[in-house]
Amino acid sequence: MLKNCLSKSLASLVLIISPIGAKTAEEEKTFLESQEEKIKLGEEHQYTIFFGKKIVGGAGLKIERGKKYGDIGYFVGKKFQGKGIATKATKKLIKKAKELGLIGVKATTHPFKIGSQKVLERTGFKRVGYMEKYMLIKEELQPRLFYWLLLKE
Ligand SMILES: CC(C)(COP(=O)(O)OP(=O)(O)OC[C@H]1O[C@@H](n2cnc3c(N)ncnc32)[C@H](O)[C@@H]1OP(=O)(O)O)[C@@H](O)C(=O)NCCC(=O)NCCS
Repeated sequence: MLKNCLSKSLASLVLIISPIGAKTAEEEKTFLESQEEKIKLGEEHQYTIFFGKKIVGGAGLKIERGKKYGDIGYFVGKKFQGKGIATKATKKLIKKAKELGLIGVKATTHPFKIGSQKVLERTGFKRVGYMEKYMLIKEELQPRLFYWLLLKE
């Protein structure tokens, strides 16, 4: 069902983001360009998610320089949500994190994003905290839930 999930294909991601409605093509292009150096240094592992031959989303693992843990994020286009795609992509990111020898992986999500919370809880993440005024987005301080997955005891 999920063929070639997480093949690297940044150029095609830029082209199709807009139709699946996750971000505008321009926003994604700017984001990827700003991350290029980090991708080269191995601090960013950004992937395109394929569903069959269709590109349906993206997922990434970010590692701050010198740190032994990563941060994950993902999105799936509206038409393809609820098919287990983000769950599979997250499992693959966890595998990558283990291969890289990380001690754990963090994730944050908005309390309203039930789908994202399900993905994290299904893949073994534990909810470890909540901050009511955490992220400044469009001049509004938004809440976030914090999740952690320990990879090494
Ligand atoms: C969050 C997101 C990545 C989930 O992707 P997905 O491929 O649909 O995830 P999965 O199918 O693996 O699992 C999601 C689960 O949550 C459920 N779900 C999704 N939205 C939900 C909601 N609003 N309320 C309750 N359950 C919800 C799905 O039905 C599914 O559960 P099920 O398998 O029991 O039916 C996707 O919805 C998305 O990209 N949303 C917009 C961007 C975003 O929120 N990114 C995450 C930032 S932290």
